[in-house]
This record gives sequence, structure tokens and C-alpha cells, in this order.
Amino acid sequence: MIPDITLPKLPVLDSEMAYREAPRAGAPVALFLHGNPTSSYIWRHIIPHVAGVAHCIAPDLIGFGQSGKPDIAYRFEDQVRYLDAFIEQAGIGSAYLVAQDWGTALAFHLAARRPGFVRGLAFMEFIRPIPSWEDFVRGVPAREIFRRFRTPGEGESLILENNAFVERILPGSIMRKLSEEEMAVYRAPFPTPQSRRPTWRFPNELPIAGEPADVVATIEAAHGALAASAYPKLLFSADPGALIPPELAEELAGRLHDCRHVRLGPGLHYLQEDHPETIGRSVAAFIAEVEGRTAGA
Ligand code: BEZ
Repeated sequence: MIPDITLPKLPVLDSEMAYREAPRAGAPVALFLHGNPTSSYIWRHIIPHVAGVAHCIAPDLIGFGQSGKPDIAYRFEDQVRYLDAFIEQAGIGSAYLVAQDWGTALAFHLAARRPGFVRGLAFMEFIRPIPSWEDFVRGVPAREIFRRFRTPGEGESLILENNAFVERILPGSIMRKLSEEEMAVYRAPFPTPQSRRPTWRFPNELPIAGEPADVVATIEAAHGALAASAYPKLLFSADPGALIPPELAEELAGRLHDCRHVRLGPGLHYLQEDHPETIGRSVAAFIAEVEGRTAGA
């Protein structure tokens, strides 16, 4: 038996998207955006902390979790289209964005296009334009496996045939050991090679050394908008991190307008699995503080 609840779904474009929700009438929306190869399940221990101050909505991205798997390329632009349609369908007019990994790229891009939508942004282990392979993730072995994911033939074999993103990258980027029940939930959406295509596409979309050019351009523009943005921000980092070491987070938080930085302690990439309580409490306090500020203004 899969130890997760069955999620409600909304019709979205030609498919459907599942979401986890903790409703709170009259409260601002907190929209939780996950990355690869996870789902809204990764927010399960965080949402209860935030539910006291916000109406929490955590979609499963298209192709992930309990959402549909339409026959699309699963490029970043596809994820943008489906998320935009989900937001519209759910009737969300503004939100605090809480994001990790590819969820941050979606959040930055959304904020760049609709700055008025964003009440605040909490983010961690974020996607950024990476100038060269030497700048990408800590350690040569990790770099090498991502290079192989992007090598035609080899990437498909590792990810589509062997489910490497779920079986290797996910448990290998969390400090604690996930239980068999937790791994079963993360495995459930990806039983066949075809079903794993969304998890193959994301590492092939990472903006590294100028490729893919269209994604690089989009993420560069989104980071330009982030650098110029005024909305309140909360950045989490862990030591050593995977994409974002704490020193880089500290430096970015110092450069951005209205950005506080919380160091979580030991962690790699999926920080929600190692530090749910600190993340949940910090996001709740952040939202309460910003809402209080707005009410007082
Ligand atoms: C990624 O999805 O970008 C990623 C996942 C694990 C470690 C590093 C990067």
C-alpha cells in the first residue's frame, strides 16, 4: 500500500493537476513549488507549521506526484504553461511563494512576469545560470553524473531505464535515510521508463555553460528581475548544500532587497526532508511578520 493520501485534482489544459491543501479562510495563499523528482509530498511536514497563517496550496507539477502525464516534452516552458493554468484554475490572485530546486525557477519566472502577484518569496537550493561545469554542484562525482544525464543515450539509460533520479539522486541528496514508506511514495509516480521522462528532462534543462540557450535566457532574465525586486524574501541554506553553498546564499541575501537568510545546519539539496520544522516555523514567522507590516502600513 502507498502510504500517502489521495489528492484532489483540478482540470488543467489537456490534463489534470493534483494538489495538497490546508485551507484557511481569509488568509493569504502560500503556494509551495517542488522540484525534481519530488512532489507536494516533500512539503508534508512543513505545511502544518504554515497552516496557522496562510491558506496553503502545494501542486504536484505536471508529470510529477499524482498529476497527469500528458504526452508533452516536459521542457521548462511546459512546466510554466501548466503552472500558470493551475494558478488560474485555482483562482489564486496573489501568494507567498515557497520554493526549492526547479520550483524556484518557476517562482522567479512567475515573479518576473507578475511582480504584483508575489507577496513574498521563501526559497532554497535554487536554480541559477551556472557559468561553467566547474561552478556546478560540489564534488566531481556529482558533476560527472549530471554530465552523463545530459549525454544522449546515456542520460535516457540512467534515468528512464534505471530511474536514477529517484533511486540515486534523491536519497543521495538527503542527510537522513528516507524510510521505505517515504521512498515508496516518491517512487509511485515513476513505474515505467515513459513515466520517468519528466525526471530526465529537468537535468537536461539546467542552465549550465550556456546550454540550453533558451532556458539560460529565461533564467538570466528571471534573476535580473529578482535582483531588482522589492518584495520580501527569505532564503534558506544548508552546509554544504548541493547547488547553493551557505557562503553563496549569504552573499546573495546581502545583495537582494529585503532578504533574510536562515542557515539550517547540515544539509544537501532536499532541505525539506532534513529541516521541515525550522523551515515551517521560519516561513510562518516570515508571513506573519510581512502581513503585520502590510496591515500596519
Ligand atoms: C537538481 O535537480 O538540480 C539537483 C538535484 C540534486 C542535487 C543537485 C541538483
